[in-house]
Amino acid sequence: MMKLPDAVRNAWHLVALSRQLKVGQVRGLKLCGVPIVLFRADGRAGALVDRCPHRNFPLSEGRVHRGGIECPYHGWRFDTAGECLAVPGCRLDTARSETLRADALRVAERHGGIFVALGDDAPPEPPLPPTLGAAGHDHFWWQQGTWRGRAFDAIENVMDPFHTNHLHHGFIRRRDKRLPVSLLVESDGRGIAMVIEQQQPDLGLMSRFLERDRSRSISRYYPPTVVQARWEGPEKLTLCVTAFFTPSTDDSFMPFACFTTPRGIAPGWLKQAAIRLFLAPVVAQDRRALARQSEVMTTFGFPRFTAGPGDILGSRLSRLWQGETIAAGQDAPVDAML
Ligand code: FES
Ligand SMILES: [Fe+2]
Repeated sequence: MMKLPDAVRNAWHLVALSRQLKVGQVRGLKLCGVPIVLFRADGRAGALVDRCPHRNFPLSEGRVHRGGIECPYHGWRFDTAGECLAVPGCRLDTARSETLRADALRVAERHGGIFVALGDDAPPEPPLPPTLGAAGHDHFWWQQGTWRGRAFDAIENVMDPFHTNHLHHGFIRRRDKRLPVSLLVESDGRGIAMVIEQQQPDLGLMSRFLERDRSRSISRYYPPTVVQARWEGPEKLTLCVTAFFTPSTDDSFMPFACFTTPRGIAPGWLKQAAIRLFLAPVVAQDRRALARQSEVMTTFGFPRFTAGPGDILGSRLSRLWQGETIAAGQDAPVDAML
């Protein structure tokens, strides 16, 4: 399997939703292959490398106790900065406690998500796309555990409209009836977007619900792990989905999505229920496809992808994933049938 590039390992990653880490809770997980432990001792979320510095017991098996996480082996206790607060049975002199530190990671909690940076190379703040958490909108988060497959292939899946006619036949588009569209690719050099313009709404179930007045949809990649899809009517946003693909290992990832709709006539809970109902089968289809793809690549030992005429983003996605910049500008529009 392909190894995760440094640009991915050194980025900020969404690792849990705030609601998944209540005061007193501990969660162990893997981020880019590194076991980490999240805990909330008081209001603040903390993240440490999941290895007690004493005898390497996993801290994620510990409990939150008196302002820190306590290792179950000898009871050493660490705060969110990794500082050792107690060595039970001994007097802890402050001069020595510095050498007893656990590896603390930077944590930022934004818009209901907990973000962690593994390395020092990540910027001071997690860079977040627009509309996430915007005022005047209803937002809700969706998280569905850890999926088999490469985070990169999941990003490509979301950026690729052509699979929707087949894999999501009937739900998003149809494989037996296609509509003319114009595909526009634009880049600012650090990300890339695909705009789909069409005269008629898609022929799948989802459009009937969403798109009384659809005129275009945009998928924009914010490297390394965020994709935002927006559906826009002639005047305003209909729906915005901000998806985070957090690599757990080289071959598994944790998808998170925040759904944003303008506040309007329908109450937030109703929109949430409807979106969940429509998307559940689509999400299950993508989950299965990514797992099957991964199984085949594992069997052969490596991926081997052929670029077809519909793969108009070409190598640009993978170059951005690896931390490179690409040429800024707009491609000539491509006519296609979706
Ligand atoms: S191994 Fe954690 S306290 Fe000893
Ligand atoms: Fe899909």
